[in-house]
Amino acid sequence: MVNFVPVEKLKPGMVLARDLYGVDSFTSRLVMLRAGQTLTISHITKMISLDIQGVYIQESAETVAPKVVNTELKQEVLTQVKEIFDISEKTSEYLYAENIQHANDALEKLINTIVNTEHLYVDLASLRMYDDCTYNHSLGVTVLAIAIGKSLRISRKNLSELAMAALLHDIGKMQVPVDIIQKPAKLSKEEFSLVKEHPEKGYKTLSQKNLVSELVLSGIVSHHERVDGNGYPNKTSGKDIPLFGRIIACADVYDALTAQRPYRTSSKPTDAIEYIMGSSGRQFDRGVVRGFLRCISPYPVGSCVQLSNGDVAVVAEQNEANPLRPIVFLMDDPTVMIDMYADKKYYNVVITGEVEEM
Ligand SMILES: [Fe+2]
Repeated sequence: MVNFVPVEKLKPGMVLARDLYGVDSFTSRLVMLRAGQTLTISHITKMISLDIQGVYIQESAETVAPKVVNTELKQEVLTQVKEIFDISEKTSEYLYAENIQHANDALEKLINTIVNTEHLYVDLASLRMYDDCTYNHSLGVTVLAIAIGKSLRISRKNLSELAMAALLHDIGKMQVPVDIIQKPAKLSKEEFSLVKEHPEKGYKTLSQKNLVSELVLSGIVSHHERVDGNGYPNKTSGKDIPLFGRIIACADVYDALTAQRPYRTSSKPTDAIEYIMGSSGRQFDRGVVRGFLRCISPYPVGSCVQLSNGDVAVVAEQNEANPLRPIVFLMDDPTVMIDMYADKKYYNVVITGEVEEM
């Protein structure tokens, strides 16, 4: 249920039911806050200073869906990937086929969720449910691969294939000794060469079963290739690397960098994005990186950010070319809009972090 709530009755924690537009809605119509945004004291203070009379509030935070994937769906996908990964080599073809079909059903729901989300800003950290690295990693890579595929306008049918390839991209790791896979330290040369066999092992296992398409297999076997030809197993380069492999490579590295691992701390999403941008054209395909940048957002609209020049600002709009440099308005003077990507005066200013409360 949606209620119009006068600004003086607003409380932190309430959730916006409709987009809230900025100062001059007739000329710029810049979105100030998105529907689904949980209000903080700073948001409410800002509305008072802008003379906003009131806003539409969602009665329950559960009824709007700012999160990309709900808990049940996460659980369903994780259960399916776990079943397929744990399956024994001796398992009957019938059971194997049944597991793939179940995973397919869960993936269809996942794709529909992502395709039908108008503003998809992937927060992979919110996807993690358990400590289990492999299954969470598979889910994170799958969600991001679908989002990249959507932003590259891959057909709906091929999104299903891409999602399956992403979900199963590391299945070959089940054939690498578990103490190597889970070793909480740097791998020796010999150990690393064993790990490097996993794309081909995954390819072989699944192609023998004849249960997934050639497209899916192409993504699995090539997800560690690099566009500069320095990847593995085949040292394929550029566009000779299948598109699914190029997409999964980008999703894989982003998720791996931002994941908490026992032997190292995770990178901040902003650092991982910097890394991906910096490796565009060498490790990652430029077109795929552009697709990635269009769908990932470390600073969602409405978030309050600290700038390196000391100012505090609110994110008003994303910049697709660089999600680290959005369009913001100043907290102290909301009439000042700054395009951190295009405004030369702000080239040396960066966002240093989010501000929780003012
Ligand atoms: Fe891998």
